[in-house]
Order: sequence, then C-alpha cells, then structure tokens
Amino acid sequence: MSLTFDTTRRPDPASDERRAEILSDPGFGQHFTDHMASATWTREAGWHDARIHPYGPITLMPSAAVLHYAQEVFEGLKAYRHEDGSVWGFRPEANAERMQRSARRLALPELPTDDFLASLRALVETDREWVPQAGTGETSLYLRPFMYASEPFLGVRPAAEVTYSVIASPAGAYFPGGLKPVTLWISEHYARAGAGGTGAAKTGGNYASSLAGQLEGIERGCDQAVFLDSASHTYIEELGGMNLFLVTDDGRLLTPELTGTILEGVTRSSIIELAKDLGLEPEERRIGIEEWKDGVRDGTVREVFACGTAAVVTPVGELRWDGGSAPSTAGDEGGEVTRSIRRALLDIQYGRADDTRGWLT
Ligand code: COI
Repeated sequence: MSLTFDTTRRPDPASDERRAEILSDPGFGQHFTDHMASATWTREAGWHDARIHPYGPITLMPSAAVLHYAQEVFEGLKAYRHEDGSVWGFRPEANAERMQRSARRLALPELPTDDFLASLRALVETDREWVPQAGTGETSLYLRPFMYASEPFLGVRPAAEVTYSVIASPAGAYFPGGLKPVTLWISEHYARAGAGGTGAAKTGGNYASSLAGQLEGIERGCDQAVFLDSASHTYIEELGGMNLFLVTDDGRLLTPELTGTILEGVTRSSIIELAKDLGLEPEERRIGIEEWKDGVRDGTVREVFACGTAAVVTPVGELRWDGGSAPSTAGDEGGEVTRSIRRALLDIQYGRADDTRGWLT
C-alpha cells in the first residue's frame, strides 16, 4: 500500500521577512525550510507512519546502529521555479531508483519510487514558498532525502528499524566563487572507494573517506581532491562529491566509466545524453591520470569540468599533485564547451528550453 504523508504544520514558521532574507542569499546547505518529511520502517510492519512535520532535532538512542556502523544512504536533487511560478523536479525517478540501489548495497529496505516521489511532493507543496523565485540567479530548493538505521542495537546486522526523512534547503551556488574554476589536488595516498565496496552507493561513508584527501588538497591551496582507482592508483575516478568530464580537441567528451566504485550521477548521465545535441561524442572509459596531465600539456585536453546536482557544472582549473602541476585551461569562467553544457542543462531545469526527454516532473 502506498504511503500518504499527513501534514502537521509548524506553529511558528519563519516570518515572511526572514524567509525573504534567506532566499535573497541562500548559499548552500545552511538554511532549512519549516518542515520535513519522515517515514518509519520496521521488519514487522514495513513502511508506515509517513508524515510531514516541523523541521527540528531528531531523537536517537546513543545505541542507534547508524551512529556506530554507518548504515545510511542519501540522495540530492533540486526543485526549480519556472517563470510562470510553477515548481518542477528534475528526474526524481532517477534519484528514487538510485536510492533503492544504494539501499540494497547497505542492506537497508527499499523505498518504492511512488513513496519517494510522494514524500518530495508533500514536502515541496507544504514549503512551496521556500522555492526561490525565477530570475533570482541559479537558485533552487535542494532536497536531501536520507535513510538510516535507527534501531538501538549494537550487534552487527541489518537494522530492524529504519527511518527515512527528507529535508529541504534553499540553495544558491555550491562553490562560493560561482563559476570560478576549482583547483584540484590528485589524492595519491587516499582512495575514495575500492572494488566490491560501496563506491557506487550514495552513502555517507564514501564522503567521509574523501575528507582526508580533500584536507590534503586544501593544505596545498586546492579546492577539491580527485581520487584514483584504489588498485593501481592510475585511473581517474571522481571528486569527493562530483563526477568528472574531459573535453578533447577533437570534440570528444570523456568521463570515467562506471566500474562499481564511481557514483552514477544523475547530472553525469544527463550530460552524456545532452552531449550529442551539442555535437560532442561522449566516451565512457578508463582514463589514466597521465592521459589527463599529458593532454593538458599538449593541448589535446581542452577543458575539464566537474558535475553534480549541487555543483551543477563547475569548471576545473589547475591540477596539482605531489611534486608537480598542470596549468588551467579554463580561463576565468570555464571553457566554451563547459559553459554550453552548463547552459543546456540549466535551460531545461529552469524551463527555458523544451523538455524533449520528459525530465521534468
Ligand atoms: C549532490 O550533488 O547533490 C551531492 O549529494 C554531493 C554533495 C557534494 C553535496
């Protein structure tokens, strides 16, 4: 039976003035709407107790399994307001399906697609006023569904009680510098994920394991770290929370193939589909880090960009590693191809271009 999210409204919502102040400069991940969605799963009863309730602290026993064994998965997607005031989600079914794959890998229960969509719809409808107006830059309402082992139990086994929630956060640019190219550090000591591990799942542990590499990069003046395959330290995988693309001088768009250790980004797969419309030849394959370094030096790699729901399409500038660097090819705001892919994607998301693929809901 499908879930129905019953709503209990918060008695003290943010004032119109406070909301307007936040929406005028939302940043990323700092402010949250008045409500959230939640549902509970137990081994005996399955999914139940679906509700929209005031955003606020959650109560967990100190023995809750997620705090000890990290049995957790999450998603990230955005709702966009169009010129006519309507509000749209971008490929939410793809997020629902990825959350189901992530849940399988983490031995969590799967939330059916209809229930996932119902939770988003109920929350966005309740907090509709928090979706930034069209024409206020690249702002949106970032939705963060997550699911975790809430059972208070210290034995190592799949939890018998699980909580699913969605929170919503008005969002501007992920990187404070906007379109300014990010400098990347090649993490040679730390891998993000290994064969047979959880790299393809959207689970907190992958992001936690990226932080030491990111810190190493920050200490060397870089913005983000790029991770290599854990077996040979030879092939490019992804950043801590973004996929990567390389644009070649002969019009190919290269991206690391999905080997089971890379997150299958919704933005990544959308760009692969859009590439052909823009006269580019997408190529998913293993890409050696030396191929990148050499390509930047000899001009065969013209542009590099990172992508994700939060970061959209972000130009990559200089590449640094222990003992060397490769110069930026990105100028001040990314190369021509990077900008045209970014524009094509945003035009669909904000309703400025025809949604010929039916990506908007
Ligand atoms: C997203 O892009 O939605 C993510 O979950 C990645 C994170 C860096 C914010």
